[in-house]
Amino acid sequence: MSVFKADILVLGSGVAGLSIAIKTAQALPEKSIIIATKADESESNTKYAQGGIAAVWDKLDSFEDHIKDTMVAGDQLNDPEVVKMVVEEAPHCMKQLIRWGTDFDHNLLGEIDLGKEGGHSTNRILHYKDITGFEIEQTLLEQVRLLKNISVLPYHFAIDLITNHHISKNEGQEEITCYGAYILNQKTNKIDTFLASSIVLATGGIGQVYAATTNPVIATGDGIAMAYRAKARVTDMEFVQFHPTALYQPGVSPSFLISEAVRGFGAYLRNKSGERFMLKVDSRAELAPRDIVSRAINSELIFSGDTNVYLDCTHLDMIDFKKHFPNILDMCKSLGIDVESQWIPVVPAAHYLMGGIDVDSKGYSSISNLFACGECSCTGLHGANRLASNSLLEALVFGNKIANEIIENRSKRIFDKSLAIPEWDEEGTMVPKENVLISHNRKTIQNIMTDLVAIVRSNERLEKALDHLDYLFQDTEKAYEKSKLSPQICELRNLNAIAYLVVKQSMERKENKGAFYSLDNKNTQLEKRK
Ligand code: FAD
Ligand code: SIN
Repeated sequence: MSVFKADILVLGSGVAGLSIAIKTAQALPEKSIIIATKADESESNTKYAQGGIAAVWDKLDSFEDHIKDTMVAGDQLNDPEVVKMVVEEAPHCMKQLIRWGTDFDHNLLGEIDLGKEGGHSTNRILHYKDITGFEIEQTLLEQVRLLKNISVLPYHFAIDLITNHHISKNEGQEEITCYGAYILNQKTNKIDTFLASSIVLATGGIGQVYAATTNPVIATGDGIAMAYRAKARVTDMEFVQFHPTALYQPGVSPSFLISEAVRGFGAYLRNKSGERFMLKVDSRAELAPRDIVSRAINSELIFSGDTNVYLDCTHLDMIDFKKHFPNILDMCKSLGIDVESQWIPVVPAAHYLMGGIDVDSKGYSSISNLFACGECSCTGLHGANRLASNSLLEALVFGNKIANEIIENRSKRIFDKSLAIPEWDEEGTMVPKENVLISHNRKTIQNIMTDLVAIVRSNERLEKALDHLDYLFQDTEKAYEKSKLSPQICELRNLNAIAYLVVKQSMERKENKGAFYSLDNKNTQLEKRK
């Protein structure tokens, strides 16, 4: 076991982690930054982002409209000051991305081409074809490679935060300070101690807690679970966003996304009989906020007993469509779906978590020295339902805020040298003989969440879910205590914690808002939010 020290420790290499590392490394060339990430350095939700990034770019658009759209989508549960700040800083962040080398699509006039997505009152999505996330991830990794004071450690799985808890004399309250993390080096199979003055959780989302999700296998909520175990405030976990149009491919996980930008381009949602059912639900039809569209699809499926609905692109200009959506077109083609003449089968899938580690407007969590950024954080921007393409944006804006905090506090050394940090003690643990026990529990959690804690919830479903999760918790903790640690057992433990948080916080919410909908709450109408 070794001890590594850095000035800044970033956990995660998606847009949040990479952008913070770049900004900080450029401003503080004398400081050392470690980015530890549990898979290949590019693997992340970021890499799969399709639609793009929302920003007021067109002269005819306005901050007021982007703010209003964000608040309407969020069912007014957003923090208005955070919304204003993020929206106003968006154009600056786009310029920063362009400076770092990100390529966005341009129209025939040579201007940046702006797409449209659900909940947006105008075209304001900067994009690179339908692979915006891949373009951004590559750009950021290239910048990171240019900076000598950043070390990227792939296949380094963060297990837990290193924290010190003490009761303050004045207030009698518990004060918690973070000093680093215990990290499993998956190449040596050793758990090393990483210490730093500033620690950033940028570990992404939780999609894998559901059986059907657009999120890659890394999205197991590790950072949120670690922060929760360390007693950080974790909030709004009941607000899980289901994307209305994941490709319907039974048995395939993760689900391939058919971008909302396709509906922004004019595609229609139809049921099996060909009806454009969104017309009877909301005047914005296919471009209503995501929670409304997903619930409407869910109702259609419950009513009809069908497995999926369809996305109809057959009336669209295919020359333009090919330019905008080459990746989606290729995927459909590979499955024998001719988008020009056939409808694409789609179904909602878990996509994004609005909640997470509670942070203030500068990215500080409730634990000293610990920041959280990106999808693992809850900033107040999204309220009860995220407006499309506001997520990459949030990570960039808060990434800048956190970098600035770290830069401005450059001389402040809060690392307590007298503190004895114990090394991870692994004596006496065994390698499990059968990994099937771990994968079985993982699948069971995913099925519980998909069956009982998805788009529509109820008190009875939540109670049943909690009972099942309780048993799985006992079983997983027993396995965790006696096993030699592996990413699989750690992810299982984290998924269990995440599922528990989603269920518990759902039980506490007594009003339907945005993405949260319970049959037992008063407001059981599909509300029309304009
Ligand atoms: P991520 O990009 O997920 O990065 C998390 C990182 O943490 C990864 O590198 C992961 O390996 C690492 N990590 C996790 N756990 C550990 C651990 N225990 N130890 C070490 N490392 C760890 N948003 C938009 O705004 N526009 C879009 O068009 C859009 N399209 C999307 C399409 C898809 C298919 C998906 C899945 C999401 C989309 N989103 C979109 C959402 C957006 O991509 C994510 O919310 C955003 O990229 C999250 O960035 P992040 O840096 O917080 O997390
Ligand atoms: C999409 O392209 O539909 C995803 C956009 C998002 O999640 O913001």
